[in-house]
Amino acid sequence: MRQVPEIARPRLDDVLDFARYKAEGRKISIVTAYDAWSARLVARSNVDAILVGDSAAMVMHGHDTTVAATVELMAMHTRAVAGAAPDTFVIADMPFLSFRKGIAEAMTAVGALMSSGAQAVKLEGVDGHEDVISHIIGSGVPVMGHIGLTPQSVNAFGGFRVQGRSDTAAVRLLREAHALESLGCFSIVLECVPADLGASITSELTIPTIGIGAGAGTDGQVLVLQDLWGVDTTHTPRFVRRYIDGECLLTDALNRYAADVKEARFPSPEESYS
Ligand code: KIV
Repeated sequence: MRQVPEIARPRLDDVLDFARYKAEGRKISIVTAYDAWSARLVARSNVDAILVGDSAAMVMHGHDTTVAATVELMAMHTRAVAGAAPDTFVIADMPFLSFRKGIAEAMTAVGALMSSGAQAVKLEGVDGHEDVISHIIGSGVPVMGHIGLTPQSVNAFGGFRVQGRSDTAAVRLLREAHALESLGCFSIVLECVPADLGASITSELTIPTIGIGAGAGTDGQVLVLQDLWGVDTTHTPRFVRRYIDGECLLTDALNRYAADVKEARFPSPEESYS
């Protein structure tokens, strides 16, 4: 018989729980979602929160980088996710350049994402847009920072590379993390940094760090759902743990369906109207 696993609530409820979880030494689990059906599944699980990541541009729309994401695209995905997961904490990504064109344009983007159902926004980097981050937070919108491998800067990095390996780069990341905390961010994503750097940034901050390729010493983890499910195997970074071989399972289902159709086993009388 088909059994949907029980939810071991309580899980994270609101933005204040991020700090509480860190203070209590409880890890935070986050996954991405971009559409209603997967958001519904995540909402029925024990995962704490959903990130509507701009990785949607790659995973859902087939682009090579996240640079193609727009505010309209992110608002559309956020609406689908938030509508299907009304009791789950949803963070929406501010897309490429949306926070680099001054406060007014940034606030238009924030408005679009929040009115689509997000409870917080995430944006990459800190240098040069400190005033924008302060303004968003001052307007009552929680902001999650994101440093390390910030994919919107992939063209400046010369590819998707681990960041913070040199002493200078590590010191810079630590400074950025402190800057984001001082500006009032509620949490920071650390992407693709050496595990010891992830742990030391985490130990210096009072706000929780959420790692992706940042080792086990962060306060939580985030993974792209399609990576975790093994349904998007075009590029699998080293930090991904695949919990099921979704590609194999789904292809097998498609092939069984195709065979049933060809051999007239589908539909059966029970699957037909009299
Ligand atoms: O867009 C995204 O999916 C992200 C990650 C942190 C996974 O920003």
